[in-house]
Amino acid sequence: PPQPVTVTITGAGGQIGYALLFRIAAGAMLGDRPVRLRLLEVPQGMKAAEGAALELQDCALHLLRSVDITDDARSGFEGANIAMLVGARPRTAGMERADLLSANAGIFGPQGAALNAVAAPDIRVVVVGNPANTNALIAAASAPDIPGERFAALTRLDHDRAVGQLAQAAGASPTDVRGVTIWGNHSATQFPDVDHALIAGRPARDVLSERLGGPGAALAWLDDEFVPRVAKRGAEIIAVRGSSSAASAANAAISHVRDSVLGTGDESVSAAVLSHGEYGVAEGIYSSFPVTSDGTGYRIVEGLSLDDRARARIDASASEIVAERDAVRALGLL
Ligand code: NAI
Repeated sequence: PPQPVTVTITGAGGQIGYALLFRIAAGAMLGDRPVRLRLLEVPQGMKAAEGAALELQDCALHLLRSVDITDDARSGFEGANIAMLVGARPRTAGMERADLLSANAGIFGPQGAALNAVAAPDIRVVVVGNPANTNALIAAASAPDIPGERFAALTRLDHDRAVGQLAQAAGASPTDVRGVTIWGNHSATQFPDVDHALIAGRPARDVLSERLGGPGAALAWLDDEFVPRVAKRGAEIIAVRGSSSAASAANAAISHVRDSVLGTGDESVSAAVLSHGEYGVAEGIYSSFPVTSDGTGYRIVEGLSLDDRARARIDASASEIVAERDAVRALGLL
């Protein structure tokens, strides 16, 4: 029988945590493998996590081997095979960027160090908490013994949002859409790119051209509607729902881990992974790229052609990540 997988979820008492735990325990992330859940919270979040643990018990799930709750990072990450870093310090009114970056460095630095000390040798980490790309960089920098490629920041939600928008515009099913890429930062500067995407096997640009009345109209739709809507979808959800994306964020985090562990086949998805300079993106930052996994972790898909429009947008978003890194460095936090 397969060995249980230990999955540590930080911020497990929050709204994304609540949308994550039950699906992971029901097998949506790792297939038919038993799981041990570790919920890492801050003291104020412990009660919410304990409540979720009671409900998990009430689901009587056959794959769930154990649930442990702690506010100590070392116990939380002990022997972890997968860490999903969701808990973060949100930006509150009047907070400067430097305050936000340093509050989060104070979370992701120590968590990276704890992962380095006690996680399982095969640990893989996905950072969900914002600013996700920079938090991933800080966690990885604090974990010198864990290869940087084992860390990623979540841009799968942006990817899935782009697939959803494209499918709707083309009158197609989301399962017919392939080869969409999110480039850059998980922020409003991200570039959702359909230049290599296919809809039911045909170039997405051709399908959009046909439906919208020519290549000019397709490009205008991409630049004026699609890109900003995907990039600002988080704000749209807050405006309509009254609180930020939770179920869709949890769904994306599950898809991110599932595809990393079970493999993507030849289909590319998006994740913010360590740049070694691919596509001219600054080496050493976590930036979103097209990626595939054979089950051993994400690798960047290389060799895609980029036109001037794509080049400019990717450069702009990557520059924002570099600026965040430099701000963290200037504060002495990296
Ligand atoms: P939430 O506020 O409902 O929950 C956050 C939880 O984290 C709380 O229970 C809190 O007690 C806990 N927490 C705070 N600091 C912690 C620490 N040091 N260790 C352990 N737990 C800690 O927030 P929600 O909606 O669940 O969102 C969580 C994060 O995910 C936010 O930073 C949000 O911006 C981000 N997010 C990222 C997305 C992405 O696509 N990358 C999408 C949606 C949200």
